Amino acid sequence: MNIVLLGAPGSGKGTQASLLRDGLGLAHVASGDLFRDHLARGSDLGQLAKSYMTAGKLVPDDVTIGMIRERLEAPDTSAGVLFDGFPRTVAQAKALDAMLRESGRRIDGAILIDVDEDELVARLSGRQICRECGASFHKRFRPFVTCPEGKCDGEHLYQREDDLPEAVRVRLETYRRQTEPVIEYYESAELLERVEGVGDVAAITDLMEKAVRAIDGRKVTTE
Ligand code: AP5
Repeated sequence: MNIVLLGAPGSGKGTQASLLRDGLGLAHVASGDLFRDHLARGSDLGQLAKSYMTAGKLVPDDVTIGMIRERLEAPDTSAGVLFDGFPRTVAQAKALDAMLRESGRRIDGAILIDVDEDELVARLSGRQICRECGASFHKRFRPFVTCPEGKCDGEHLYQREDDLPEAVRVRLETYRRQTEPVIEYYESAELLERVEGVGDVAAITDLMEKAVRAIDGRKVTTE
């Protein structure tokens, strides 16, 4: 299965993807994480992406699509992918369809995680990320207790530069303008499932699993 996770910044795409991916046996492809990896390695692509990311704007489509194309060549993606943060424009969604078609694959469904704007701002302003393993915590909603990988005592936690208030404002505006049309793209293809993304993380994971089962059921009946 190839599934796209949609949702505004802070809606919980990364949190839910990391809880779902192993059980589903899917590779987790997160465009934001791929950009941050490039940046940490000091690559040209990372340097280019940094200015857009810090400002809360989207990295240009051609650069982003090229990076995802390369990621989809890795063997771990052949069993299926959970896309997180990609596609974010209709041009990216169309390019993804074309890329998958070339290798006999396709998007089976998209899940929109719905969260209201006040909650998004509260989540992003308190988010903490582990620089070592990438795990995401929240000062209030999901405080660090133990390292999921058993490697540290929380000394690598940091706040993302694009979680500062001005960048958050731009990210939410960018989402409304450029990414909301992607919801319509999957809805008109009858591939969209919606999940209410406010409340207990585990309860939302249950709703996500239900959405995955609906996608799987549809896939079986159309094949
Ligand atoms: P990216 O890293 O993808 O950021 P994002 O989409 O803005 O998403 P976030 O990571 O902020 O949020 P999330 O939905 O994953 O939420 P999370 O689970 O962390 O992109 C960063 C930048 O890279 C972009 O701005 C852009 O510049 C560039 N980029 C990336 N992809 C691109 C693309 N395709 N095209 C062009 N440019 C691209 O949760 C957030 C917080 O809430 C955490 O602290 C978490 O612990 C907490 N939380 C989660 N669930 C709950 C809950 N149920 N209750 C309370 N708290 C919760």
